[in-house]
Amino acid sequence: MIFDSHEKETGTVRIAVLASGRGSNFDALCRGDTGNGRVSLLISDNEEAEVLRKASAAGVEALYISPGKYRTRFGEPEEAEWVSAMKERSIELVCLAGLMRILKGPILREYSGRILNIHPSLLPSFPGLRAQKQALDYGVRITGCTVHYVDSGIDTGSIILQKAVHVDDDDTVETLSDRILKQEHLAYSEAVKLLCGGVPAADGRRIFTGRT
Ligand code: GRF
Repeated sequence: MIFDSHEKETGTVRIAVLASGRGSNFDALCRGDTGNGRVSLLISDNEEAEVLRKASAAGVEALYISPGKYRTRFGEPEEAEWVSAMKERSIELVCLAGLMRILKGPILREYSGRILNIHPSLLPSFPGLRAQKQALDYGVRITGCTVHYVDSGIDTGSIILQKAVHVDDDDTVETLSDRILKQEHLAYSEAVKLLCGGVPAADGRRIFTGRT
C-alpha cells in the first residue's frame, strides 16, 4: 500500500490538485465519484488562474505559491515550498490538472508513484502541448485522453486509464477539444477512484487496474 490512510484505516486519501488555468478537471474531481479520494487542496502557480476562484467556490483550500523565476519548471526552493504545503496538510495523492510546468525536483522525489496527470490524447501519441491540434494535423480518426503516472519525462509515465474519442470530418481544434474534455472529466475521477481503492499491481509499464 502506498497510502498511509489505508494503513491507518482512516479511509480517506487526501488529494492536492496542482493547476495553472481554467480548472474544469479540478471541478470534475471535486464533483465526481472519487471513491476514498477527497480533493483537499488546490495549489496554483498562477495568481490569476480561474481555478483559484473555482476552488474557493467549491470550499476547497486554495493557495497560490510562487513557482520561482523559470517559465516552464519550478525553482528548487519554491518547489520545496509546494511540498511543505502538501505535507503539512497530509496530502497523499497529487493530481496535475493543466499544470503548465515540468516536475523534476522535490515534488517528484517526495511524491514519487503518487502523482497523476491527465493528457488530452491517447499516449504515447501526441505528448506535450496542443495535443488536440497535433491529432487533427496528423489526421488520426481516433484520439482521446490518458490518465498516467508522472515521471521525469514529458507525458511518459505508466498509463492507468484511457478513453477514446472519434475525430469527425468537420472537427476543429475547439470541437475536438470539447469532446475530449468531457471524457477527461470522467476518466480522471475513475482513475482516482481506482487508485484510492487500492494501488494497482504493475509489471514494468503495465498497470493492472482490475478492469476488463
Ligand atoms: C486539459 O485538457 C488537460 O488534459 C490538460 O490541460 C487541460 C486543463 O484543462 N493537461 P482544465 O484547466 O482542467 O480545464
